[in-house]
Amino acid sequence: MTRYRLAWLKAGVIAASLLPFALLVARAFGIGDLGANPVQEVLHTLGKTALNLLLITLAVTPLRRLTGLNWLVGLRRSLGLLAFAYALLHALTYVALDWRMDWSTLYADVTERPFITVGFLAVVLLIPLAVTSTNSMQRRLGRRWLKLHRTVYAIAALGVLHFFWQVKLDTSEPVLYAGILAILLGFRLADWARRQALHRLRQ
Ligand code: HEM
Repeated sequence: MTRYRLAWLKAGVIAASLLPFALLVARAFGIGDLGANPVQEVLHTLGKTALNLLLITLAVTPLRRLTGLNWLVGLRRSLGLLAFAYALLHALTYVALDWRMDWSTLYADVTERPFITVGFLAVVLLIPLAVTSTNSMQRRLGRRWLKLHRTVYAIAALGVLHFFWQVKLDTSEPVLYAGILAILLGFRLADWARRQALHRLRQ
């Protein structure tokens, strides 16, 4: 894959990832509408897209290992940052539209409703990953960068738990997300175990 092609592919991936947001804006401003509960519709679309993008980001390394398409790694940072942007917008929608910046009630909500606590924790933990996502930060942190960025699995688990807890009756969708996350994590653990075994053999 040439640099030029990768740049185009990256632009395509970013445009596709921004589509759910663009559709929300279009629906809010005239093309169709946001249904009977617009705030909930916005919250759900942003939250679901954040989780989808987070899982797609986690799928990059397994896909790269399975297919040998090393250029896939060039898409990972953009996908991760887009997941963060959606998660932040989702949280801000809740603060600005659902609670209209009512800080005391918000504080009570974050501390007393476990699904909100977990979502809040996930957003907070995503911040250091977004801040350290640059090449220079990666160079500066060295091996610590890898350790820090592995927390993304725990963050995705918090996202899935948050999804689980807010569902009232049908848990099939969060169960599906949990299954996908378990497969992705299982792949990384198996890969790690294989590398350890190879390392021991070489010693
Ligand atoms: C401060 C942080 C967060 C707050 C305050 C928050 C709040 C909410 C609220 C109020 C809902 C809707 C509940 C309902 O309709 O009854 C929701 C749903 C959801 N949130 Fe969050 N959330 C946060 C972080 C996150 C993060 C980090 C993710 C993903 C990475 C996420 C993913 C989701 C998903 C997937 C849903 C369900 C969407 C659906 O049912 O279609 N949230 N969240």
